[in-house]
Amino acid sequence: MKIGILSGGGDAPGINAVIRAIVRRGVQSYGDEILGIRDGWRGLLEGNFMPLDLNMISGLLPRGGSILGTSRTNPFKREGGPEQIMRNAQTAGINAVIVIGGDDTLTVAHKMADYGLKCVGVPKTIDNDLVGTDYTFGFHTAVSIATEALDRLHSTAEAHNRVIVLEVMGRYTGHIALHAGLAGGADVILIPEKPFDIDEVCEYIRRRQKRGRNFSLIVVAEGAKPKGGKEIVYSERIDEFGHISLGGVGYYLAKEIERCTGIETRVVILGHLQRGGTPTAFDRILATVYGVAAIDNVHKGVFDHMVALKGGELTSVPLKDVVGKRKTVDMGLYEIASVFFG
Ligand code: F6P
Repeated sequence: MKIGILSGGGDAPGINAVIRAIVRRGVQSYGDEILGIRDGWRGLLEGNFMPLDLNMISGLLPRGGSILGTSRTNPFKREGGPEQIMRNAQTAGINAVIVIGGDDTLTVAHKMADYGLKCVGVPKTIDNDLVGTDYTFGFHTAVSIATEALDRLHSTAEAHNRVIVLEVMGRYTGHIALHAGLAGGADVILIPEKPFDIDEVCEYIRRRQKRGRNFSLIVVAEGAKPKGGKEIVYSERIDEFGHISLGGVGYYLAKEIERCTGIETRVVILGHLQRGGTPTAFDRILATVYGVAAIDNVHKGVFDHMVALKGGELTSVPLKDVVGKRKTVDMGLYEIASVFFG
C-alpha cells in the first residue's frame, strides 16, 4: 500500500517518534511505501510530498519538532480545498493517510471521509484536551518541562521573597497547569475551567505570609480568566480554525497581586519551551505505540478512527466521538491540588 503521513497544528514532542514507528512497521512488516506530506493539510492541497524510507527515520526517536513540518491550514477554508486534496491524493497514488493532530487537524480528517479519503488519527497535543484518550503524546514532556521550571523558580522566589507567576500553555483547558502545579508544589493553580477571583488568590498569598512563607509560586494556564472577565489576548490574529492567540494573563495577575498584597511579583511565560526539544521516555513510548497501532489499523481497514489509550489499554475510537469536543481537567484532581493552596 502507499500510505501518507501528515502532522498538523502546533507541534508536540514525539511527532518524529510516531513517523519513525509508522515507517518502520510499514516498510518492514507490510512492504508499504510511505509518503511524507509536508506542512500538514497544506501539503496535500499543494501536492508537496517527501518519500520516507528506513534511512530517513534513523535518529528520529528523540528528535523534537516534525521532519514533515506542520501548519494550521484548513482545507475547508479554501475554495475547492477538499476536492483538490482528493485529486492530489489520487495522483500520488495514496491509499490512506495517517493524520497526527489535535482537534482541528482530526476534524478535517473526519470531514474528508465524506470525500472518500481514508484516514487514521493519532492524538497529538501538549494540551491533552482531546476526548477519547487518556493521553495525547507531548503532554507528558510539557508537564515535565513546566515542573522543572517551577522547581527552579522555587529557589529564586524564596531567596528574594517574591511572588513568581508561571504562565503555561493551555488555551481551553488546564491539564498542563494542574499537573505541573501539583508536581511542582504550586501555591495556587489557575485554569480555564474555573474562572479565578483575584481577592482569593491574594488571600492565599497572605495566608502563606502569616505562616512566615514570604514567597509564593502561582501557575496559570494562558486561557485562565478572571470571574466575569475574558481571556487575555496576545494578538488579534485568528488562525484558519478560528483560534485567537492567547498570552499575557501572567502579567495581568502580577499587577493585581502587587496591588493587593504589596509583594514584588515577577512573571515567567514558558511559551514554546514546552513544545520544543526532545520528548520524555513516556512520550517516546506512547508515540511509538500509537504509530505502530495507526499503521496496523490501516491494514485492518479501521478508518475514520483515532488510536487511543483508555485506562492503560490501547484502543481505537471513532473520530465522530472525538472531534469538536474538549476534555477538561478532572475537577477531583483540582480539589486535591487545592489542599496545598495558600
Ligand atoms: O496546540 C496547543 C497549543 O500549544 C496551545 O496551548 C497554545 O495556545 C497554542 O498551541 C499556541 O500555538 P502557536 O504557538 O502555534 O500559536
